[in-house]
Amino acid sequence: MDRKTVVCVIGTRPEAIKMAPVVIALREQDVFDVKVLATGQHAAMLDQVLDFFKIAADRNLHIMKERQTLDYITASVLTGAGEYFDETRPSAVLVHGDTTTTFAAGLAAFYRGVPVGHVEAGLRSWNMRLPFPEEMNRVLVDKFAAWGFAPTQLAAENLRKEGMAERAISVTGNTVIDALFYTVAARAKPESPELAALPDGAPFVLVTAHRRESWGAPLEGICSALTDILDAHPELWMVVPMHKNPAVREIIRKHLGGRGNVILCDPLDYPDFVWAMNSSKFILSDSGGVQEEASAIKKPVLILRDVTERPEAVEHGSGVLVGVDRGRIAAAALKLLEDEAAIPEIERRCAAQPFGDGKASQKIAEILKESLLS
Ligand code: UD1
Ligand code: UDP
Repeated sequence: MDRKTVVCVIGTRPEAIKMAPVVIALREQDVFDVKVLATGQHAAMLDQVLDFFKIAADRNLHIMKERQTLDYITASVLTGAGEYFDETRPSAVLVHGDTTTTFAAGLAAFYRGVPVGHVEAGLRSWNMRLPFPEEMNRVLVDKFAAWGFAPTQLAAENLRKEGMAERAISVTGNTVIDALFYTVAARAKPESPELAALPDGAPFVLVTAHRRESWGAPLEGICSALTDILDAHPELWMVVPMHKNPAVREIIRKHLGGRGNVILCDPLDYPDFVWAMNSSKFILSDSGGVQEEASAIKKPVLILRDVTERPEAVEHGSGVLVGVDRGRIAAAALKLLEDEAAIPEIERRCAAQPFGDGKASQKIAEILKESLLS
């Protein structure tokens, strides 16, 4: 049989986590020649995920530079991905989410008339600068995507509002849930040496922050709130896997470096991060993926942003939007720590899996098979 080549593009950690189950599902169909193009927008943080899912990139453009600019990432991915598509002549290209890799690789496919499938299509904050530049990336990709794989009904509705053809839209669930289910089954105890410093059974909160629009003053506000929380609760531990970005690390280290009860560490591999989410009292994060995962496991997450493109996490999940203001973040965290009813209340409000049933990748693979082979 004539196998259709499908190229799955990944650039950063979350794209790899959420595209890995799609790569696995497409390979299981056994009718595609599935290729993985890594742009290398992330280096170590991407390799960590690919290792865990046992996925080898067919090509890695290795573009990452320290403190890279958006212009640089866009230009390098556009030309590098374009050359790879010229070489491999795919029948379809899949991109995920809203990074600069997503947009630039999608654009390179569009320029060649190759149909683009957008995994996690239709998320909107309706504010072009929040998150920045992700809202613009996802809006632009949905303008040229041939398939919009929407994770939720709301995301599908957003695509319709913007004029995507009905036949192009499908509601699949979010592939992060597929990745999460795969991972929960994989490891019961953490393996990272950093987590060995955490006393058995010690209460801890898990923290991540990296967003571009938070660099500088907003991240300073977030870190000051973290120190307020630690000051108020000497029994509490804090696990802070730091993004590799030096602009982020400098600020976090300035506020939390050398403090007792704080584990400042490199990014955890995915199964250890999942363990940490599950075992924490609650999470503070500005991450998109973490909002979805926390909702799926019903773990409260204080969302360190002013707006979210994942309103389902707040309406039907475990998310509480607290922004980047020091006082507001600390007050919300102290409520969870001190009001015994607060966490059970959030858990009660969570609907079952607002982001999907763990079969999103399978649905995407079936839709592609139907479209490309019938
Ligand atoms: C990128 C995405 C963002 C996504 C995030 C996931 C864009 C513009 N931003 O943001 O949407 O939420 O990834 O984490 O696409 N670095 C390393 N090693 C790594 C990875 C990064 O050293 O493995 C450092 C480098 O100095 C790099 C910097 O982090 O220049 C920033 O990386 P970049 O991909 O530009 O931005 P992120 O903040 O990671
Ligand atoms: N994650 C991880 N190790 C860490 C921190 C996060 O594996 O130390 C995972 C997390 O479970 C989620 C994803 O990385 O699936 C989120 O990535 P990130 O916050 O970098 O990007 P975003 O989701 O905000 O785009």
